[in-house]
Amino acid sequence: MQSYITEVKESSLLYGNTYILWIDSPAGISMFPGQFLMVYIGDTYAPLLGRPLSIHRLRNNGNDKEFALLFEDTGQGTHWLSQRNPGEKIRFVGPLGNGYEIEPNTQRTLLVGGGIGCAPLIWLADNLSTQQKDVTLLLGGRTKNQIFPPELLPPSVEIIATTEDGSFGQKGLLTDPFKDLLSWSDQVFSCGPRPMFEALYGILLETGSSKSIQVLMEEHMACGFGICYSCAVFPRKGGVKLICSDGPMFDIREIYA
Ligand SMILES: Cc1cc2nc3c(=O)[nH]c(=O)nc-3n(C[C@H](O)[C@H](O)[C@H](O)COP(=O)(O)OP(=O)(O)OC[C@H]3O[C@@H](n4cnc5c(N)ncnc54)[C@H](O)[C@@H]3O)c2cc1C
Ligand code: FES
Repeated sequence: MQSYITEVKESSLLYGNTYILWIDSPAGISMFPGQFLMVYIGDTYAPLLGRPLSIHRLRNNGNDKEFALLFEDTGQGTHWLSQRNPGEKIRFVGPLGNGYEIEPNTQRTLLVGGGIGCAPLIWLADNLSTQQKDVTLLLGGRTKNQIFPPELLPPSVEIIATTEDGSFGQKGLLTDPFKDLLSWSDQVFSCGPRPMFEALYGILLETGSSKSIQVLMEEHMACGFGICYSCAVFPRKGGVKLICSDGPMFDIREIYA
């Protein structure tokens, strides 16, 4: 784990209330889909706490490597980030956490992203399609404004979008197509709100499936590396896990069974 100060290369409002920042990637840094960064807000130490954000995507820009953050403007920190311009500096610590695990023999992959939970799944979809895997990405939101633009994904990725108000894709919840595709998939990866994870786990029980789902858990984080316990999660069968250092990726059964 290391701290970096690096430069914003591009900043834009991508859709709805969701922004993308492309940032110069420090030399030698290695990142995996599902890992996150603690991004510090402001040029001073106030506010003190970083904000955990997933690594959203990587790209080459000439000889330079860049990574992206995709975030909703929901509060002080993400608003500050949304106002950054190319040339300005960003401080972050990371990459942190374990990230998704792709089994070598996997061919059919199902990615389930609720709302801004799509952020780390887009890079995972890029990565899996480069490895010639079959990728189906489920994108769910309350309205069209919460759906990541499908045209920005590799053409080989099959996208199924659902919105609760029917303004884009199928009307309903992600859990509807998830139920249909569960048996097709070799591996399932997800990120989104906890009620969605509970619903996905309910479907595993209802269908008697023995599959696992790799979920990225979220919790408020003060340190990001196992000191403060602000990110503790309590698995149903007992004990405690720290999302920042034991996760953020967990097998859904580790938390909900
Ligand atoms: C591992 C991980 C990855 C994440 N990846 C993304 C991402 O890629 N895109 C994205 O938009 N959001 C992501 N989040 C949620 C994001 O961290 C919060 O939206 C953000 O911290 C809100 O900060 P704020 O100052 O704008 O809001 P405020 O509400 O003003 O935040 C106040 C405090 O609460 C914390 N906080 C508020 N909401 C959350 C939350 N849901 N999770 C954790 N801490 C929270 C903040 O860190 C801050 O300390 C992720 C969270 C985690 C734990
Ligand atoms: S954020 Fe401090 S222990 Fe996890």
